[in-house]
Amino acid sequence: MTVRPIIYSDDPVLRQKSRRIPRVTPEIEHLVDDMFETADAAYGVGLAAVQVGVPWRVIIANIPGDLQDPDAGTAVALVNPELARASDELEEGVEGCLSIPGWVGKVERHKSVVVKAMDMQGKKIRLRAEGYLARILQHEIDHLDGVLFIDKAAEVWPVKEGDEERVEAGFAAPANAMI
Ligand code: NI
Repeated sequence: MTVRPIIYSDDPVLRQKSRRIPRVTPEIEHLVDDMFETADAAYGVGLAAVQVGVPWRVIIANIPGDLQDPDAGTAVALVNPELARASDELEEGVEGCLSIPGWVGKVERHKSVVVKAMDMQGKKIRLRAEGYLARILQHEIDHLDGVLFIDKAAEVWPVKEGDEERVEAGFAAPANAMI
């Protein structure tokens, strides 16, 4: 597994629409392994392939086991993910992006979603998610269509490292909110 360089938001590749994948090949498996390694090295909880410069419809979500979240320890890799269902209920939360370092914003997301995708065995699956995991999946699926959180954020501001009081007050994101 290799840590790949992350593409930043001034790169037009990030605005590209990623291509669908007909089947899971060893090349895709290799890409996914590297995406987990890359997200992990950057303290990220999710990543879209386009963020490492590969415009294919592949995303991962990886919520560390030590995080206070019902989905802590969840790691998923999805090919051609799309929202099959989304709750009417929306939830505002602070999020950032590994491709936009140093910035976070308040973004409204569907509170719960059902994502239709292909898993790494090439099987069609439906994944039900809510809360943080649902937010990560919506953020990553947006990446596949060239959409960044700053496009949807009601407010965006620079984040200071180690600013725990601001994190608790909901004005900043913890380091592991980068997706
Ligand atoms: Ni992102």
